[in-house]
Amino acid sequence: MQVTKTVEETRKQIKQWKKEGKTIGLVPTMGFLHEGHASLIRKCREQNDIVVVSDFVNPTQFGPNEDLEAYPRDFERDSKLCESLGADLIFAPSPEDMYHDPHAFVSIDTLSETLCGKTRPIHFKGVCTVVTKLFHIVAPDRAYFGEKDAQQLAIIRKMVKDLNFDIEIVGCPIVREEDGLAKSSRNTYLNDKERQAALCLSRAVKTGKEVIYIGADAKEVLNPMKAIIEAEPLARIDYVMMVDALTMQPIEKADRDVLVAMAVYIGKTRLIDNFSYGV
Ligand code: PAJ
Repeated sequence: MQVTKTVEETRKQIKQWKKEGKTIGLVPTMGFLHEGHASLIRKCREQNDIVVVSDFVNPTQFGPNEDLEAYPRDFERDSKLCESLGADLIFAPSPEDMYHDPHAFVSIDTLSETLCGKTRPIHFKGVCTVVTKLFHIVAPDRAYFGEKDAQQLAIIRKMVKDLNFDIEIVGCPIVREEDGLAKSSRNTYLNDKERQAALCLSRAVKTGKEVIYIGADAKEVLNPMKAIIEAEPLARIDYVMMVDALTMQPIEKADRDVLVAMAVYIGKTRLIDNFSYGV
């Protein structure tokens, strides 16, 4: 497995693989890899000749008061895991190699304004920009994203369609801990009590899945979910919403493909979870 730290050396290697007619899969990550990331890398390994994992804590997707500095990092562990999963290359650039000031940005406005975009107004602009850059640097045939970040996945799909990227976007199911908590690099911020409290998210998802039906009012689905979270003293709701799965706009009834998504603070840590429901 190769490790590249610059755009230039990555491009050189990719050109060589393309010349050999190899198909390339890309798994974009911010590192501190866990089983969720591993599931994307495995899927990528199955479907492509070459597996590229990017490992980059992207500064432009963090707001001024967010956890850019505190975000967990462990490159040694990440590269061992990638190697064991059969990755061919990890691209781990420095922020200086990726960005200069002033820099062009890519944004997909309407889908980025609801749900997480309300609390994190610049987040998806940073995500779209870095993913565009990674797509240009790695030129993959396929790229892999988790349904854990369902709004991100919808935005990337829209970006790829609107901006004519010739890349297949593959969505992968949420990987959970045994007790239901969705795996996340941010789970490391939780102390024991908070870790226990964080189970209210997956419990709410489970309840939402049980009560939803075709044509259900949003309130019928969201109220029992909110009640579960509100009963947890360490939890504070950012949002619990039902949106159209394509546009990310709030809807009153589950009468099409919908996404039921939430963000909840457990102490100071903001966690997300969701489920999709189709007609
Ligand atoms: P990161 O949070 O590291 O996640 C990388 C990928 O792993 C994302 O597509 C995310 O949805 C997926 N993932 C994380 N936890 C998962 C889980 N429990 N089950 C399934 N998939 C999971 O998302 C980002 O990084 C960044 O925004 C990025 C796209 C790399 C751009 O910087």
